Amino acid sequence: MLGIAGYVRDLEYEEVRVLKALARLMRDGESVDVERIAISARMHTDRVSYALSRLNERGLVHRAGRGYHLIYPGLDVLALRELADRGIIASIGRHIGVGKEADVLEAMDEHGRMLAVKFFRIGRISFRDVARKRTLRDVHSWLLISMESARREFQALRRLRAAGVSVPEAVALARHALVMEYIDGVRLVECSALDDPEHVLEDVLENIRLAHTAGMVSADLSEYNILYDTNGRVWIIDWPQSIDARTHPNARTLLERDLKNILRFFRKRFGVEYDLNKAIVYVSMHPTPQP
Ligand SMILES: Nc1ncnc2c1ncn2[C@@H]1O[C@H](COP(=O)(O)OP(=O)(O)OP(=O)(O)O)[C@@H](O)[C@H]1O
Ligand SMILES: [Mg+2]
Repeated sequence: MLGIAGYVRDLEYEEVRVLKALARLMRDGESVDVERIAISARMHTDRVSYALSRLNERGLVHRAGRGYHLIYPGLDVLALRELADRGIIASIGRHIGVGKEADVLEAMDEHGRMLAVKFFRIGRISFRDVARKRTLRDVHSWLLISMESARREFQALRRLRAAGVSVPEAVALARHALVMEYIDGVRLVECSALDDPEHVLEDVLENIRLAHTAGMVSADLSEYNILYDTNGRVWIIDWPQSIDARTHPNARTLLERDLKNILRFFRKRFGVEYDLNKAIVYVSMHPTPQP
């Protein structure tokens, strides 16, 4: 992963222009030929070909016949480069989370503030799959879906934060990369014992209630998406799939599923009993706003 930081530094100006043009042109899922990139990047085709061959050598684009596809490593480099240029991040560190649909990396800004960068990887495919050309045509649409997911989670975090929910602060968005506050903690699933599990459960329920009051349901809540920090505070993460509590047709079912996951975990792991109906009533209770 430090390798990517190296690529970002080494990336030539013309290579960035070519990557950006490729990102602009990838809408239709076809590979993009050198001539189209040259027009969009306002560069000579020879320079474009040269930049593409260098990008291809480093695995940042994928060559298919006469054309090229942008692939995740290229999009990563573009996003990192943009975040560095905007002064959002100064360095990239450890890999802290690998999920089905995202890689999360540590980063730091120029003042030494720790950040977490979540790169969405929806539909991630292996090189073997690319070689089989199974989903090469789909790669572009997956990249677009990842960018859309990053945007959705960014907006969700902003709304939740404004509503007082304990979520990491959303710092910036670049393509499929979401930069947020770093939480120094562990996932609840990794906690074998807690000093006061009843209190932690109440804390989680209060956050679900605040989100629900703001019109949002996580729809992916579990012990894997709650962080417990070194001060004993809980943080709810992973919101790209969150839904509107008022208009989504399955809002009630999804809210109940979230609650069931949490209550089951606290019962099995810590022996804490909490009635599901009581939890539903609690989180649906919206205090009337003060005039
Ligand atoms: N702000 C953060 N601070 C510290 N660690 C984080 C932060 N956000 C995520 N992580 C770590 O990265 C892991 C993955 O993050 P997240 O749950 O958001 O994505 P995901 O699980 O890959 O997505 P999906 O559930 O769609 O597969 C988390 O379990 C957590 O360990
Ligand atoms: Mg997760």
